[in-house]
Amino acid sequence: GDGVFKYYSSGEWKKSSSGKSVPIINPTTRQPHFKVQACTQEEVNKLIEEAKTAQKSWAKTPLWKRAELLHKAAALLKEHKVPIAECLVKEIAKPAKDAATEAVRSGDLVSYCAEEGVRVLGEGKFMVSDSFPGNERTKYCLTAKIPLGVILAIPPFNYPVNLAVSKIAPALIAGNSIVLKPPTQGAVAALHMVHCFHLAGFPKGLISCVTGRGSEIGDFLTMHPMVNCIRKQSNDLVELYLHCPDVLICGLNIFCCCFTGGDTGIAISKKAGMIPLQMELGGKDACIILDDADLDLAAANIVKGGFSYSGQRCTAVKVVLVMESVANALVEKVKAKVAKLTVGLPEDDSDITPVVTESSANFIEGLVVDAKQKGATFCQEYRREGNLIWPLLLDNVRPDMRIAWEEPFGPVLPVIRITSVEEGIHHCNASNFGLQGCVFTRDISKAILISDAMETGTVQINSAPARGPDHFPFQGLKDSGIGSQGITNSINMMTKIKTTVINLP
Ligand code: G3H
Repeated sequence: GDGVFKYYSSGEWKKSSSGKSVPIINPTTRQPHFKVQACTQEEVNKLIEEAKTAQKSWAKTPLWKRAELLHKAAALLKEHKVPIAECLVKEIAKPAKDAATEAVRSGDLVSYCAEEGVRVLGEGKFMVSDSFPGNERTKYCLTAKIPLGVILAIPPFNYPVNLAVSKIAPALIAGNSIVLKPPTQGAVAALHMVHCFHLAGFPKGLISCVTGRGSEIGDFLTMHPMVNCIRKQSNDLVELYLHCPDVLICGLNIFCCCFTGGDTGIAISKKAGMIPLQMELGGKDACIILDDADLDLAAANIVKGGFSYSGQRCTAVKVVLVMESVANALVEKVKAKVAKLTVGLPEDDSDITPVVTESSANFIEGLVVDAKQKGATFCQEYRREGNLIWPLLLDNVRPDMRIAWEEPFGPVLPVIRITSVEEGIHHCNASNFGLQGCVFTRDISKAILISDAMETGTVQINSAPARGPDHFPFQGLKDSGIGSQGITNSINMMTKIKTTVINLP
């Protein structure tokens, strides 16, 4: 055809009546690689209406049948891992092996969701009235979990497939329908994932995938009166809200914008009105290293946590807070490991690949320049070619530097030397973010006390922050988000409680 990927509505692949398309820029070549349809508001209206209708009969479809279809989709996702991974390599420069892992992890997530769903949703609660003062045993209360309705899912560029299915699968097993707006970069990988659900044979209209410019369909989607729940992840919000005058956007990538994640989240909450929201809005995950830590273990986790997918993970280690007494030894060990990272093409499965956009690379460079001017120690020379930024460890970072607080979403990691554990905890808690954090020590009692003191959704002891395994609860405090994810929590989030009371004579 004309080389423009079609959008998915009414169980069919369609061209938009706009006749327009949106290009997807390959981060490596900085040239357009794919094109997707620029959908119109009328097209969005039609698919949301269909989602509403399809949801009604889907909610009546037996739970085991819903699970069966999800298992089929999971198997198809794994079978299609090669083409999906190829898209991720071209659209978001994800290293080849990580791209394949994303597809497989997504299949596993969908199967687990189906299994968990039949148990979580297959059970209700039974209560009797005489446990409350003044009541006889004359009322029986039956509690069930019922679907919300139409779920709008907006995943970010860094996991266009995995962070889409982490919303789609819980929504579907719970009897909801799904409208997916993938990030522009990663949209074709997402369309391919949707194709797997199409092949699995879900009813027409139950799942749709709309592509296009945020300015045309962004607010329109999030404020649509027929949407019953919004699941968002941060990056694409910028695209959606760029045109929105009451939201401060200071960069092209919300992950990069200190304080903006929260502002955008609040703006969305206001616009969404009374519908449930689940949002993940970035992080500044701290890694606290005590003087009794296993420094080899800590260094390995700092490099993995800080530099995998070139630091473009909300859960990446984004600041190292190390006790002065072990700082020299730790920095040497991290430097040695950074020197071994390969830098280059995602196709070659390099460790460090080009960051997602030129504006993201410019933003990262701004943080590096600021740190240089304010006297940080550069453990490597700063090097950039196009969107490719070589891994950089910045030692002796001080709180007056932007990198101490802001989220680079790139392969640049600051080290702050601390003289007490309290200083580390204070830095962590002074951040407006509160996603995850980690602590390295051989003293489990200290680790637990530090975990209790850190104002983050999760604290990892002796390992880098990470969302997975995907059935663990995953949540951000403060500006890092609203609601808790993880398979069981997400299924519950996609439901509301309905009670029926039997009144005995
Ligand atoms: O970027 C945000 C993701 O939820 C992080 O997932 O810890 O598996 O990389 P991850």
